[in-house]
Amino acid sequence: MLQSDLGVCLTWKHKRKTLHCDTSRNLAIMKFLKNLFDSNKVWAANIKEADPEFFTKLANQQRPDYLWIGCADSRVPANEILNIMPGEIFVHRNIANVVVHTDLNCLSVIQYAVDVLKVRHIIVCGHYNCGGINAAMDNSEHGLIDNWLRHIKDVYRFHKKQIDAMDNEKDKLDLLCELNVIEQVANVCHTTIVQNAWASGQELAVHGWIYRVSDGILRDLDVCTTGIHEIAKIHRIA
Ligand code: CO
Repeated sequence: MLQSDLGVCLTWKHKRKTLHCDTSRNLAIMKFLKNLFDSNKVWAANIKEADPEFFTKLANQQRPDYLWIGCADSRVPANEILNIMPGEIFVHRNIANVVVHTDLNCLSVIQYAVDVLKVRHIIVCGHYNCGGINAAMDNSEHGLIDNWLRHIKDVYRFHKKQIDAMDNEKDKLDLLCELNVIEQVANVCHTTIVQNAWASGQELAVHGWIYRVSDGILRDLDVCTTGIHEIAKIHRIA
């Protein structure tokens, strides 16, 4: 009996200890994300091996030629898609790569990129099968994000006839992804930041691209805008 009691007691103590260890281990994972720090060390070591001066040079200056405005989707990271190194592209990302006239975050990024870094290209890049675009096209409530997605619904409203004429849902969504990029390129061009840069003779091209997650390939939507004469008269600031 005593033996049995002791057995139960030991088992319980062992379980409690294991549970405590598991909880501590989980907490350590939650708090410190050691796997990511380990991965970072490997990444930095690999780059240093290829170019021992890389980080020293990068620490002194950033001089990117490009500003990327893309979707926050984890499958669409600018540097990896373009196969370029840190320091080569300035990046702003949000849900569904939207450029809103009153979004001080996005406008500040554009201003810094154009006025200070003097980038020569702004790339608005969308992607097919974008969760933000899909969510904007349904009628369910998604919470706070619905206020953001309403900008996408506006794009649909502007091009309703063209989108509704498509045969199936997939083609409709694909077209909206493309049209959203084209609208956001226009929004970038309509900013005083870009127009002032053009007025002062700064060379600046605004591009609209789309990326397909399922094959990793980028496509140019052929809406590149390089000067005030290419935008609608109503939006020109003299
Ligand atoms: Co997306």
